[in-house]
Amino acid sequence: MQNRLRAEAAAVLADNWLGASTVPSRRLYPHQWNWDSALIAFGLRHVDVGRARQEISTLLAAQWANGMVPHIIFDAATAHGDYHPNAGFWNSRGAPGAPAAETSGITQPPVAAPAALAVHRHTADLDWLREIYPKLVAYQRFLTEHRNVGGHGLVSIVHPWESLDNSPAWDAALAAVTVPADLEGYTRHDLKHAPAADRPTADEYDRYVHLVALRRAAGYGGDGLAEHPFLVEDPLTNAITVWAAQSLAEIATLLDEDPAPHRATAARVREAMLAHMWDPAANLFRARDARTATPVAADTVAGFMPLLDPELPDDIVDGLVQSLCHKRFWPSDGFPIASQAMDSPGFDASRYWRGPAWVNTNWLIWTGLRAHGRHALAAELAAATLDMVRRGGWREHFSPLTGEGHGATNFSWTAALTIDLLDGLDGLDG
Ligand code: SER
Repeated sequence: MQNRLRAEAAAVLADNWLGASTVPSRRLYPHQWNWDSALIAFGLRHVDVGRARQEISTLLAAQWANGMVPHIIFDAATAHGDYHPNAGFWNSRGAPGAPAAETSGITQPPVAAPAALAVHRHTADLDWLREIYPKLVAYQRFLTEHRNVGGHGLVSIVHPWESLDNSPAWDAALAAVTVPADLEGYTRHDLKHAPAADRPTADEYDRYVHLVALRRAAGYGGDGLAEHPFLVEDPLTNAITVWAAQSLAEIATLLDEDPAPHRATAARVREAMLAHMWDPAANLFRARDARTATPVAADTVAGFMPLLDPELPDDIVDGLVQSLCHKRFWPSDGFPIASQAMDSPGFDASRYWRGPAWVNTNWLIWTGLRAHGRHALAAELAAATLDMVRRGGWREHFSPLTGEGHGATNFSWTAALTIDLLDGLDGLDG
């Protein structure tokens, strides 16, 4: 049974392999995505470590001069009409410091460093690690310096696509963005490949496109970033930045480089998260609007991500575990973990990040629980996630009520992380 699941997952990854990287899904996302690739590498390392390494190398080859690793690297062989905003819309080649490949001009959570360390553990190839280390360090510096827009050590995202696209955590910040009446026209190709009820709304899309146009007009640089109308400090991005810093410290040690600056970054971002994002009444980390310096009310799965940090204080871990096990996130007769608490007024079981459970966030929480020695709960979460995939298929996201699959089909990170979960159950991972 498990062998069949693993073989099916490996077949999804083989189908989605472009030759040097993996598309998240052939139709809905026909290019390379940043954190998709890094998460895919975690699973691919068990199947074909050479491809896992190539996945990360291809991603880092598209790094910008300022250290940014873009969220999309466009596949030159895929028609422009297959995805929007396409390479022409982003026009990366018109911006200073862009790489040779055509890319978007925003980033995504830096899973690449933890992925590189995990892949290295399967190869013990120090030469590869040595080659990519400076790029990983520059990516980290881009986030912790250029994106420290609020000035107290937290990374700001500048677009919902940098994190959990239509999360309710962005609603207030997005509502304050004024979309011009003459917004340039565009066609939503996503709606050809997934039901509208599974996707962001037309109003949200207009705001997404307008925010891209604003960043494009700024050349995707740092000048005037403080005036950008969407600046949100996101617990998921910041928790993954801490995780990346810890991975970079380990990589530095392996390479006889100095791990101390990375450990200092981890400590600094952790302290800032505890000071500005932890809500002890809700037992959850909250996003924070960097423009208004106010916490965001939405209770979302992003709030659990600091579990990835092995140095998170025990009382905070206890609080997070209490929230995680509550039926508002983990229904007793459904599937974990809802992306928005199920008792929230805007909860929607099928719409992208407004309620559905996702394999990547479950996997990140599973990784965090294991880092804190919460093995029984981690195993329960892994088993429930695998049940959800068996029921819903290789889909992008799942109803936490029924396990029904939604969004893209043959979705790569669902397949890759299923392989890693199965490997974890076998106790073979490292
Ligand atoms: N995830 C976005 C989309 O839905 C882009 O990054 O197309």
